[in-house]
Amino acid sequence: MPDILIVEDEESLRNVLQINFNREGYTSDAAESFQQAKELMDKNRYDVILTDYRLKGSSGFDVLRYQQEKMPFAQTILMTAYATVENAIDALKLGAYHYLIKPLKMEELNAIVKKAIEKARILNDNFLLRQKIRNQYSVDNLIGKSPKMLKVFDIIKRIADTRTTVLLTGQSGTGKEVIARAIHNLSSRREGRFVVVNCGALPESLFESELFGHVRGAFTGAVSDKQGLVEAADKGTLFLDEITEMPLSLQVKLLGLLQNSRARRVGGTEEYEVDIRVIVATNKDIEEEVKSGRFREDLYYRINVIKIDIPPLKERKEDIPLLLDNFIRIYSAEQNKAIKGISPEALRLIMNYDFPGNVRQLENIIERAVTLTREGIIDTDVLPDVIKGKTSEPVKNIYQYGGIDLDAKLQEIEKEAILDALREANGKKIHAAKLLGLTFRSFRYRLAKYGIAAEDEGEEEKE
Ligand SMILES: Nc1ncnc2c1ncn2[C@@H]1O[C@H](COP(=O)(O)OP(=O)(O)OP(=O)(O)O)[C@@H](O)[C@H]1O
Ligand SMILES: [Mg+2]
Repeated sequence: MPDILIVEDEESLRNVLQINFNREGYTSDAAESFQQAKELMDKNRYDVILTDYRLKGSSGFDVLRYQQEKMPFAQTILMTAYATVENAIDALKLGAYHYLIKPLKMEELNAIVKKAIEKARILNDNFLLRQKIRNQYSVDNLIGKSPKMLKVFDIIKRIADTRTTVLLTGQSGTGKEVIARAIHNLSSRREGRFVVVNCGALPESLFESELFGHVRGAFTGAVSDKQGLVEAADKGTLFLDEITEMPLSLQVKLLGLLQNSRARRVGGTEEYEVDIRVIVATNKDIEEEVKSGRFREDLYYRINVIKIDIPPLKERKEDIPLLLDNFIRIYSAEQNKAIKGISPEALRLIMNYDFPGNVRQLENIIERAVTLTREGIIDTDVLPDVIKGKTSEPVKNIYQYGGIDLDAKLQEIEKEAILDALREANGKKIHAAKLLGLTFRSFRYRLAKYGIAAEDEGEEEKE
């Protein structure tokens, strides 16, 4: 691939430039118009585009724009006459690398071209490196680099192309569904359908016919034969989400399906055969459900062949930067925005947060942040309060975690207030006591109680 593309309508200058670059050890192509430059850019990749500002019927801007679209890592240098310097400066704002004023000084040109080529190559290498990292730390649409997730990736790659039933457990938003899809996409069943059944969303009365289908006249309203989701998943994967919500009566039928690969439509007399892989998921403690009799033990053993526990996000924070990067890329592309990343402070706040809603919550936070950011980088101002530690969560939530010690809480508040008041009063105790509506004696007592050392300004006696 040539290094440089020259776009210049004046033939003699074109030739001089080509000879010069040749002597400098670069290869170059030359175009005399934007049209010709476009054709060359469609075919080749260049590190640097050196273009005249004034071109017949078009301008260096057109070249710049086309380069940005076609070859985002390439660098465009504009050549301009004094009269059009203003435009060249505008071009810098649009992302041109540099501009040079004609007549060109070859030495200056060569120095700038050298730097531009370096920049283009670094950008390109970075891109390839990121892509490599992305491939290394992703499976299908799944992203992660924590040892825990790499282990999950390893398991799903190994079991994808088998027919084994998989049980996915993990808190809400940890990625159970994306993992189920990844298993499907990695298997030779990928041409078949991936059918999702949310067991918590189907009313018991409809569940069986939705799942297994029904024949005409099986019940009021069954006006024609209907295929069930199990049949729709033939040669593909059936994903049973929230499996613990499945009514007990259907659990028996599911067990039959798993054991014989056969099922029967509601009201039907004959069984049909299907070739499906079943993946089930739950965010409940399924063993607990078995113990309490809400989930059949025999079905539990049948589905618990391969169990994958997906750890909550707070146990694998190393995944956060990669996930972040991924969501920024997705949402800024979706919203047509040039958002390049996140500020160190915003990243720090995110890394310090516990994410009770796991990856889904992180994704929602990034989507919102991208929406609220115009361009450039995401900063702390577009992060929700929970991340910034200013939780406005109702106090009642605290009691869900076993209650609080009210006295300790009040003392904490009292100490905080005293310190604030002292700060406000520049350490003057009398003033601080006034700010708190306390007598000096009472204030001093509290200082001693909390071991707060305030400076003595010889003012005590003035009470
Ligand atoms: N490892 C991951 N890489 C990329 N995206 C992920 C990952 N894990 C989760 N997500 C994203 O987070 C969101 C929630 O994931 P998913 O729906 O799979 O969670 P879930 O465990 O099924 O949650 P629930 O129990 O609430 O149904 C999805 O938008 C998904 O794309
Ligand atoms: Mg889910």
